Amino acid sequence: MLKGKHIVLGITGGIAAYKSAMLARLLIKEGAEVQIVMTPSAKEFITPVTLSALTGKPVVSEFFTANTGEWHSHVDLGLWADAMVIAPATACTIGKMANGVADNMLVTTYLSAKAPVFVAPAMDLDMMAHPSTTRNINLLRSYGNHIIEAASGELASHLCGKGRMQEPEVIVNELIAFFNKSQSMKGEKLLITAGPTYEKIDPVRFIGNYSTGKMGYAIAEEAAARGAEVTLVSGPVSLKAQHPSIKVIHVESARQMLDACKEAFPQTNIAIMCAAVADYAPNVQADKKIKREKDEIPVINLVKNPDIAATLGSEKKDGQIIVGFALETDNEQSNALDKLHRKNLDMIALNSLRTPGAGFGTDTNVLTLICKNGFATELPLMTKAEAASQLLDAICRIK
Ligand code: CTP
Repeated sequence: MLKGKHIVLGITGGIAAYKSAMLARLLIKEGAEVQIVMTPSAKEFITPVTLSALTGKPVVSEFFTANTGEWHSHVDLGLWADAMVIAPATACTIGKMANGVADNMLVTTYLSAKAPVFVAPAMDLDMMAHPSTTRNINLLRSYGNHIIEAASGELASHLCGKGRMQEPEVIVNELIAFFNKSQSMKGEKLLITAGPTYEKIDPVRFIGNYSTGKMGYAIAEEAAARGAEVTLVSGPVSLKAQHPSIKVIHVESARQMLDACKEAFPQTNIAIMCAAVADYAPNVQADKKIKREKDEIPVINLVKNPDIAATLGSEKKDGQIIVGFALETDNEQSNALDKLHRKNLDMIALNSLRTPGAGFGTDTNVLTLICKNGFATELPLMTKAEAASQLLDAICRIK
């Protein structure tokens, strides 16, 4: 299942390092080529001889070979890897990775790696529960690293709790699942809109809405993780795309969003319109701040914004799919179905503001996926990442 994959296996100094020999063996059994990088203290727990005998490659641990002065290139290793797995990852190494403390070969390789990184923490339960560990693990997550959660059970200290490195079989299965998934949308070109639009009134004011972009960004991350090429046209949000193959085009107004989408759409085969586009914009934008007058209350006249989904819908060619979103407060299903037909969409994801856990700013959503023939699939409450995954599965089914 991992045939031809180059895996850099990073081993740090924890009791669980003995399990890394088994992990290396299982990876090789699945067809991977494994290069071990150890921290100096890992050698106190397992010998490089055991590991190099298993992998058929010398273990790398120092920046230089002492007697020849030969330099070991962490950059080359980082580029060679299809994935880097750090198992076990001690609190110390996790802290160094989170903060860029590049004082050994393992952390420099991590910082140079272009490939996905998997981290399997292993430590005593109190260290695991310490806020600094939690913060560092969350930082790694925010860099797009995959955390293979530690298991609960008896620890080296004979205490019982969370902190055991996951079993080698579980780690290998995570890698296999990741590579399978990253193949599943290879070759697909996605255009995704996300976030609100801001319609300028004057240099300091705008008409906007409560959208935070979380749903659109979650879809972009999931599609990129599945191997798709993603263009994300984003309104003003505080999020940052993590996956390197997401191309983000930042826009502010609905007009700018339309222009970016029109340019990208001909090269796209799946467009997902997740943005909360303002329906109206002020008919004039003052170039100086509108001052408060004594008696007069300013009147803002509005003009209709273009409908981006409908515009793309009218330009849709064979083989292109457009998916819309509908955020409704009443008559949900019939409003959503009406939008689907009016905008020439292939599917619409309905969420109702009446449903707890759905809508703007939350980390969860409750979607009903409605196809052209009216067939509806009601999904339960789930995280936006899970909802993104379900939506992409449904899109793949109608393709
Ligand atoms: N949409 C769009 N351009 C707009 C308005 C909406 O691309 N100017 C897209 C949204 O991204 C979404 C779908 O159309 O995928 C439905 O958006 P929604 O705001 O629910 O629909 P509207 O057509 O604006 O209808 P209403 O606000 O009256 O519910």
